[in-house]
Amino acid sequence: MLAGIGDVASTSFITLYCHALETLSDNPILSDPKSVEIMTELNKTLSRSDNTLDRTLVAGTLDRMLVVHIAIRAKKYDDYARDFLEKYPEGVIVNIGCGLDSRFLRVDNGKVIFFDLDLPEIIGIRKGFFEETDRYHLIASSVLDFEWMTVIRQYSGPFLFMAEGVFMYLEGRDVRSLVLKLQEMFPGSGLVCEVVNSFWLRPPLKRMLDSKLQRQVHLGKDATFRSGISDGREMEQWHSGIQFLDEWSYFDSDEKKLGWLRLLRYIGLIRKTQWTVHYRLN
Ligand SMILES: C[S@@+](CC[C@H](N)C(=O)[O-])C[C@H]1O[C@@H](n2cnc3c(N)ncnc32)[C@H](O)[C@@H]1O
Repeated sequence: MLAGIGDVASTSFITLYCHALETLSDNPILSDPKSVEIMTELNKTLSRSDNTLDRTLVAGTLDRMLVVHIAIRAKKYDDYARDFLEKYPEGVIVNIGCGLDSRFLRVDNGKVIFFDLDLPEIIGIRKGFFEETDRYHLIASSVLDFEWMTVIRQYSGPFLFMAEGVFMYLEGRDVRSLVLKLQEMFPGSGLVCEVVNSFWLRPPLKRMLDSKLQRQVHLGKDATFRSGISDGREMEQWHSGIQFLDEWSYFDSDEKKLGWLRLLRYIGLIRKTQWTVHYRLN
Protein backbone atom coordinates (compact mmCIF):
# COMPACT_ATOMS: atom_id res chain seq x y z
CA MET A 1 0.00 0.00 0.00
CA LEU A 2 1.11 3.60 -0.47
CA ALA A 3 3.32 4.98 2.29
CA GLY A 4 1.39 6.59 5.13
CA ILE A 5 -1.95 4.96 4.29
CA GLY A 6 -3.40 3.04 7.24
CA ASP A 7 -5.44 -0.18 7.00
CA VAL A 8 -8.80 1.61 7.39
CA ALA A 9 -7.94 4.32 4.87
CA SER A 10 -6.74 1.68 2.41
CA THR A 11 -10.27 0.23 2.24
CA SER A 12 -11.02 3.20 -0.02
CA PHE A 13 -8.72 1.68 -2.66
CA ILE A 14 -10.84 -1.47 -2.63
CA THR A 15 -14.09 0.42 -3.24
CA LEU A 16 -12.43 2.55 -5.92
CA TYR A 17 -11.20 -0.55 -7.79
CA CYS A 18 -14.65 -2.16 -7.41
CA HIS A 19 -16.20 0.89 -9.12
CA ALA A 20 -13.61 0.81 -11.88
CA LEU A 21 -13.81 -2.95 -12.51
CA GLU A 22 -17.60 -2.80 -12.62
CA THR A 23 -17.52 0.21 -14.96
CA LEU A 24 -15.33 -1.80 -17.36
CA SER A 25 -17.52 -4.92 -17.16
CA ASP A 26 -20.38 -5.95 -19.47
CA ASN A 27 -23.68 -4.26 -18.59
CA PRO A 28 -22.13 -2.29 -15.73
CA ILE A 29 -24.26 -1.61 -12.67
CA LEU A 30 -22.39 1.66 -12.18
CA SER A 31 -20.87 4.04 -14.69
CA ASP A 32 -17.91 5.72 -13.02
CA PRO A 33 -15.28 6.74 -15.60
CA LYS A 34 -13.37 8.80 -13.02
CA SER A 35 -12.68 5.63 -11.02
CA VAL A 36 -11.11 4.07 -14.13
CA GLU A 37 -8.90 7.14 -14.59
CA ILE A 38 -7.76 7.00 -10.94
CA MET A 39 -7.22 3.22 -11.07
CA THR A 40 -5.05 3.55 -14.18
CA GLU A 41 -2.89 6.14 -12.47
CA LEU A 42 -2.64 4.26 -9.14
CA ASN A 43 -1.71 1.05 -10.94
CA LYS A 44 1.58 2.66 -11.91
CA THR A 45 2.58 2.90 -8.25
CA LEU A 46 0.82 -0.15 -6.82
CA SER A 47 2.31 -2.47 -9.45
CA ARG A 48 5.70 -1.94 -7.79
CA SER A 49 4.34 -3.19 -4.44
CA ASP A 50 4.55 -6.75 -3.13
CA ASN A 51 1.62 -6.29 -0.73
CA THR A 52 -1.15 -8.89 -1.35
CA LEU A 53 -3.94 -6.33 -1.49
CA ASP A 54 -2.01 -4.15 -3.94
CA ARG A 55 -1.22 -7.13 -6.18
CA THR A 56 -4.90 -8.15 -6.15
CA LEU A 57 -5.98 -4.61 -7.04
CA VAL A 58 -3.54 -4.25 -9.91
CA ALA A 59 -4.37 -7.72 -11.26
CA GLY A 60 -8.07 -6.81 -11.21
CA THR A 61 -8.83 -10.01 -9.32
CA LEU A 62 -10.96 -8.66 -6.47
CA ASP A 63 -13.76 -11.04 -5.50
CA ARG A 64 -16.44 -10.65 -8.20
CA MET A 65 -19.31 -10.59 -5.70
CA LEU A 66 -17.57 -7.89 -3.69
CA VAL A 67 -17.34 -5.79 -6.86
CA VAL A 68 -21.05 -6.30 -7.54
CA HIS A 69 -22.04 -5.46 -3.95
CA ILE A 70 -19.97 -2.28 -3.83
CA ALA A 71 -21.30 -1.14 -7.22
CA ILE A 72 -24.91 -1.76 -6.13
CA ARG A 73 -24.26 0.19 -2.93
CA ALA A 74 -22.70 3.15 -4.75
CA LYS A 75 -25.62 3.26 -7.17
CA LYS A 76 -28.10 3.21 -4.28
CA TYR A 77 -26.27 6.03 -2.47
CA ASP A 78 -26.28 8.01 -5.74
CA ASP A 79 -30.06 7.51 -5.79
CA TYR A 80 -30.36 8.80 -2.20
CA ALA A 81 -28.36 11.88 -3.26
CA ARG A 82 -30.45 12.41 -6.41
CA ASP A 83 -33.73 12.05 -4.46
CA PHE A 84 -32.47 14.69 -2.01
CA LEU A 85 -31.46 17.02 -4.86
CA GLU A 86 -34.78 16.59 -6.58
CA LYS A 87 -36.43 18.03 -3.46
CA TYR A 88 -33.66 20.51 -2.68
CA PRO A 89 -31.71 21.31 -5.88
CA GLU A 90 -29.44 23.75 -4.02
CA GLY A 91 -28.99 21.47 -1.01
CA VAL A 92 -25.70 20.62 0.69
CA ILE A 93 -24.36 17.06 0.63
CA VAL A 94 -21.53 15.92 2.89
CA ASN A 95 -19.94 12.62 1.89
CA ILE A 96 -18.35 11.40 5.14
CA GLY A 97 -15.43 9.01 4.58
CA CYS A 98 -15.63 9.68 0.82
CA GLY A 99 -12.49 7.69 0.03
CA LEU A 100 -11.69 8.06 -3.68
CA ASP A 101 -15.33 8.03 -4.73
CA SER A 102 -16.63 10.44 -7.41
CA ARG A 103 -20.24 10.82 -6.32
CA PHE A 104 -20.17 14.57 -6.96
CA LEU A 105 -19.42 13.97 -10.66
CA ARG A 106 -22.17 11.35 -10.89
CA VAL A 107 -24.96 13.37 -9.25
CA ASP A 108 -24.01 16.99 -9.92
CA ASN A 109 -27.11 18.97 -10.94
CA GLY A 110 -25.21 22.23 -11.45
CA LYS A 111 -26.46 23.68 -8.15
CA VAL A 112 -25.57 21.31 -5.31
CA ILE A 113 -22.92 22.27 -2.77
CA PHE A 114 -20.90 19.11 -2.18
CA PHE A 115 -18.30 18.32 0.49
CA ASP A 116 -16.05 15.25 0.36
CA LEU A 117 -14.54 14.55 3.78
CA ASP A 118 -11.90 11.96 4.67
CA LEU A 119 -8.68 11.51 6.60
CA PRO A 120 -5.85 13.83 5.45
CA GLU A 121 -3.89 10.99 3.77
CA ILE A 122 -6.86 10.17 1.50
CA ILE A 123 -7.72 13.80 0.75
CA GLY A 124 -4.03 14.26 -0.16
CA ILE A 125 -4.46 11.60 -2.88
CA ARG A 126 -7.83 13.04 -3.97
CA LYS A 127 -6.22 16.41 -4.56
CA GLY A 128 -4.26 14.84 -7.43
CA PHE A 129 -7.52 13.94 -9.17
CA PHE A 130 -10.22 16.42 -8.12
CA GLU A 131 -10.21 20.20 -8.27
CA GLU A 132 -12.14 22.22 -5.71
CA THR A 133 -14.63 24.78 -7.00
CA ASP A 134 -17.17 27.11 -5.38
CA ARG A 135 -19.59 24.14 -5.21
CA TYR A 136 -17.18 21.25 -4.64
CA HIS A 137 -15.03 21.16 -1.53
CA LEU A 138 -12.60 18.77 0.14
CA ILE A 139 -12.24 18.49 3.91
CA ALA A 140 -9.13 16.77 5.25
CA SER A 141 -10.14 15.77 8.74
CA SER A 142 -11.25 12.89 10.88
CA VAL A 143 -15.03 13.00 11.00
CA LEU A 144 -14.58 12.75 14.76
CA ASP A 145 -12.83 16.09 14.96
CA PHE A 146 -16.06 18.11 14.96
CA GLU A 147 -14.36 21.35 13.95
CA TRP A 148 -15.23 20.51 10.29
CA MET A 149 -18.88 21.14 11.10
CA THR A 150 -18.29 24.86 11.52
CA VAL A 151 -17.29 25.05 7.83
CA ILE A 152 -20.52 23.33 6.76
CA ARG A 153 -22.60 25.49 9.10
CA GLN A 154 -21.77 28.55 7.00
CA TYR A 155 -24.31 27.20 4.50
CA SER A 156 -28.02 27.34 5.09
CA GLY A 157 -28.77 23.79 3.90
CA PRO A 158 -30.84 21.68 3.75
CA PHE A 159 -28.16 19.10 4.50
CA LEU A 160 -27.72 15.45 3.64
CA PHE A 161 -24.94 13.51 5.38
CA MET A 162 -23.87 10.25 3.77
CA ALA A 163 -21.57 7.64 5.32
CA GLU A 164 -21.08 4.73 2.93
CA GLY A 165 -18.93 1.96 4.40
CA VAL A 166 -17.57 4.11 7.25
CA PHE A 167 -19.39 3.85 10.61
CA MET A 168 -18.44 0.20 11.15
CA TYR A 169 -14.76 1.19 11.35
CA LEU A 170 -15.45 3.64 14.20
CA GLU A 171 -15.99 2.81 17.87
CA GLY A 172 -19.67 2.65 18.88
CA ARG A 173 -19.34 5.56 21.33
CA ASP A 174 -17.80 7.69 18.55
CA VAL A 175 -20.62 6.93 16.10
CA ARG A 176 -23.11 7.87 18.78
CA SER A 177 -21.47 11.18 19.64
CA LEU A 178 -21.08 12.00 15.93
CA VAL A 179 -24.76 11.37 15.16
CA LEU A 180 -25.83 13.36 18.23
CA LYS A 181 -23.57 16.24 17.23
CA LEU A 182 -24.97 16.25 13.67
CA GLN A 183 -28.47 16.26 15.12
CA GLU A 184 -27.61 19.18 17.43
CA MET A 185 -25.79 21.23 14.77
CA PHE A 186 -27.97 20.51 11.71
CA PRO A 187 -31.62 20.19 12.73
CA GLY A 188 -33.80 18.97 9.86
CA SER A 189 -30.91 17.26 8.08
CA GLY A 190 -30.88 13.78 6.59
CA LEU A 191 -28.42 11.00 7.41
CA VAL A 192 -27.86 7.96 5.22
CA CYS A 193 -25.39 5.55 6.80
CA GLU A 194 -24.28 2.00 6.42
CA VAL A 195 -24.26 -0.08 9.58
CA VAL A 196 -23.23 -3.58 10.58
CA ASN A 197 -25.42 -5.85 12.66
CA SER A 198 -23.96 -6.02 16.16
CA PHE A 199 -25.03 -9.69 16.26
CA TRP A 200 -22.09 -10.52 13.97
CA LEU A 201 -19.66 -8.58 16.15
CA ARG A 202 -19.93 -10.90 19.14
CA PRO A 203 -17.16 -13.40 19.72
CA PRO A 204 -16.55 -15.93 18.13
CA LEU A 205 -18.52 -14.58 15.13
CA LYS A 206 -16.39 -11.44 15.05
CA ARG A 207 -13.19 -13.50 14.76
CA MET A 208 -14.72 -15.45 11.87
CA LEU A 209 -15.79 -12.21 10.17
CA ASP A 210 -12.31 -10.67 10.59
CA SER A 211 -10.55 -13.70 9.18
CA LYS A 212 -13.00 -13.85 6.23
CA LEU A 213 -12.34 -10.17 5.45
CA GLN A 214 -8.58 -10.64 5.75
CA ARG A 215 -8.60 -13.82 3.63
CA GLN A 216 -11.08 -12.84 0.93
CA VAL A 217 -10.71 -9.09 0.72
CA HIS A 218 -7.07 -8.90 1.96
CA LEU A 219 -7.98 -6.20 4.49
CA GLY A 220 -5.22 -5.19 6.90
CA LYS A 221 -5.66 -6.22 10.56
CA ASP A 222 -6.64 -2.72 11.70
CA ALA A 223 -9.48 -2.51 9.15
CA THR A 224 -11.79 -4.35 11.48
CA PHE A 225 -15.47 -3.70 12.18
CA ARG A 226 -15.63 -2.01 15.58
CA SER A 227 -19.29 -1.15 15.98
CA GLY A 228 -22.79 -1.98 14.88
CA ILE A 229 -26.44 -1.73 15.82
CA SER A 230 -29.02 -4.45 16.25
CA ASP A 231 -31.85 -2.72 14.43
CA GLY A 232 -32.38 0.36 12.25
CA ARG A 233 -34.53 1.89 14.97
CA GLU A 234 -31.79 1.57 17.62
CA MET A 235 -30.51 5.10 16.92
CA GLU A 236 -33.97 6.52 17.66
CA GLN A 237 -33.32 5.60 21.29
CA TRP A 238 -30.26 7.87 21.38
CA HIS A 239 -32.39 11.02 21.10
CA SER A 240 -36.03 11.83 20.47
CA GLY A 241 -34.98 14.00 17.50
CA ILE A 242 -33.55 11.03 15.59
CA GLN A 243 -36.24 9.67 13.30
CA PHE A 244 -35.92 6.42 11.33
CA LEU A 245 -37.15 6.92 7.73
CA ASP A 246 -36.30 3.78 5.78
CA GLU A 247 -33.63 1.14 5.31
CA TRP A 248 -32.11 -0.82 2.46
CA SER A 249 -30.03 -3.96 2.02
CA TYR A 250 -27.88 -5.06 -0.94
CA PHE A 251 -30.09 -8.13 -1.23
CA ASP A 252 -33.15 -5.93 -1.87
CA SER A 253 -31.64 -5.07 -5.24
CA ASP A 254 -33.10 -6.76 -8.32
CA GLU A 255 -29.74 -6.50 -10.05
CA LYS A 256 -29.25 -9.69 -12.13
CA LYS A 257 -25.54 -9.88 -11.32
CA LEU A 258 -26.45 -10.70 -7.70
CA GLY A 259 -27.80 -14.05 -8.93
CA TRP A 260 -29.17 -16.40 -6.27
CA LEU A 261 -27.92 -14.09 -3.50
CA ARG A 262 -31.11 -12.08 -4.08
CA LEU A 263 -32.89 -14.86 -2.16
CA LEU A 264 -31.03 -13.81 1.00
CA ARG A 265 -33.43 -10.87 1.29
CA TYR A 266 -35.85 -13.36 2.85
CA ILE A 267 -33.49 -14.28 5.72
CA GLY A 268 -33.71 -11.37 8.18
CA LEU A 269 -30.36 -11.76 9.94
CA ILE A 270 -28.48 -12.18 6.65
CA ARG A 271 -30.38 -9.38 4.88
CA LYS A 272 -29.28 -7.10 7.69
CA THR A 273 -25.69 -8.26 8.11
CA GLN A 274 -24.52 -4.93 6.72
CA TRP A 275 -27.22 -2.56 5.55
CA THR A 276 -28.13 1.10 5.13
CA VAL A 277 -30.42 3.21 7.28
CA HIS A 278 -31.88 6.61 6.42
CA TYR A 279 -32.72 9.01 9.28
CA ARG A 280 -34.04 12.51 9.73
CA LEU A 281 -32.19 14.46 12.46
CA ASN A 282 -34.50 16.96 14.15
C1 LIG B 1 -14.58 1.49 2.85
S1 LIG B 1 -13.96 3.08 2.56
C2 LIG B 1 -15.39 3.80 1.81
C3 LIG B 1 -15.06 4.94 0.92
C4 LIG B 1 -16.24 5.52 0.15
N1 LIG B 1 -17.29 5.95 1.04
C5 LIG B 1 -16.75 4.53 -0.85
O1 LIG B 1 -17.80 3.92 -0.61
O2 LIG B 1 -16.09 4.34 -1.88
C6 LIG B 1 -13.99 3.80 4.21
C7 LIG B 1 -13.49 5.22 4.22
O3 LIG B 1 -13.76 5.78 5.51
C8 LIG B 1 -12.69 6.62 5.84
N2 LIG B 1 -12.63 6.85 7.28
C9 LIG B 1 -12.46 5.93 8.25
N3 LIG B 1 -12.41 6.52 9.46
C10 LIG B 1 -12.55 7.85 9.24
C11 LIG B 1 -12.57 8.99 10.09
N4 LIG B 1 -12.42 8.88 11.42
N5 LIG B 1 -12.74 10.20 9.53
C12 LIG B 1 -12.89 10.34 8.19
N6 LIG B 1 -12.87 9.29 7.33
C13 LIG B 1 -12.70 8.05 7.85
C14 LIG B 1 -11.48 5.87 5.32
O4 LIG B 1 -10.34 6.70 5.22
C15 LIG B 1 -12.00 5.36 3.99
O5 LIG B 1 -11.77 6.29 2.96
